[in-house]
Amino acid sequence: MPFLESKMRVVCKLLVLTVLLFVSTISLAFSSPNDAYPTGYGDEPGACVGASDDLRPLRREVYEDGQIFDITHQFNPNTPIGDSDEGIGQFLTLLSSMKNGSDYNFSELRLGVHAGTHVDAPGHMYEEYYDAGFDVDSLDLRVLNGPALLVDVPRDKNLTADVMQSLHIPKGVKRVLFRTLNTDRRLMWKKAFDTSYVGFMKDGAQWLVDNTDIKLVGIDYLSVAAFDDLLPAHHVFLKSREIILVEGLKLDDIEAGLYTVHCLPLRLLGAEGSPIRCILIK
Ligand SMILES: *[C@@H]1O[C@H](CO)[C@@H](O)[C@H](O)[C@H]1NC(C)=O
Ligand SMILES: *[C@@H]1O[C@H](CO)[C@@H](O)[C@H](O)[C@H]1NC(C)=O
Ligand SMILES: *[C@@H]1O[C@H](CO)[C@@H](O)[C@H](O)[C@H]1NC(C)=O
Repeated sequence: MPFLESKMRVVCKLLVLTVLLFVSTISLAFSSPNDAYPTGYGDEPGACVGASDDLRPLRREVYEDGQIFDITHQFNPNTPIGDSDEGIGQFLTLLSSMKNGSDYNFSELRLGVHAGTHVDAPGHMYEEYYDAGFDVDSLDLRVLNGPALLVDVPRDKNLTADVMQSLHIPKGVKRVLFRTLNTDRRLMWKKAFDTSYVGFMKDGAQWLVDNTDIKLVGIDYLSVAAFDDLLPAHHVFLKSREIILVEGLKLDDIEAGLYTVHCLPLRLLGAEGSPIRCILIK
């Protein structure tokens, strides 16, 4: 049925285009289980699934040659968000649909800006910064892109000054992604927000600010700050408006070490947070 197939292909392309145009980088990050991620997200009702066997989109976590790692979590209804047991729920809505006679599918996105893999802007925790416009559109792309260290931290503690000191992160290192117990516990795969995650305590954040050159802090759950020090640790990091916090990263099954990170938030005027697409390149 070549006609049907090519029609399907066109429809798929339209779907992808439409979503791309209006949803930008967010919604294409779907993935499904593969060898590297046997217990991944599961099959999503994503683009074109079920249309026909050869119309199944390829979703990747790691590119075959191991040079590119997608460290962004897929957005799906179970994606966790702070303070909710239910995840983000339905975040895409079809406003026009081909099933209903429209020439195209056309979706709208509704999403908390601190859900899933995301970035915090200084306005997140400082009223005066928020009012002055320190939003995600003002974040420095030079900080969000460049050489980065992926480090493992001890699994039995939160990120205190002692832990920071023990990591011996060399001066000059500007970007560090901290892999913690959160990754082992697969907390980002659970839709219920779990306050027992590992994060920075206030003194750990202060130690990092005082003793390192780190300007990009990445972590593997929804908040860089441990729940017990949620406000103070955020305040320490965001005060100077020089440190960018990237949260909810997917750091599973990647060797610790030096990479190039590329992180791109959306240009949302006035937003103190944004979904962010991050990749590591070897
Ligand atoms: C959207 O487009 C897909 C892709 O061809 C089509 O199969 C589907 O029926 C459309 N969805 C709706 C709800 O109209
Ligand atoms: C299609 O139209 C029906 C009837 O108006 C409505 O109930 C349904 O929600 C519509 N579906 C979509 C995907 O727009
Ligand atoms: C880290 O702190 C949280 C509270 O913010 C606590 O529930 C958790 O048990 C701590 N984790 C470790 C490994 O100490």
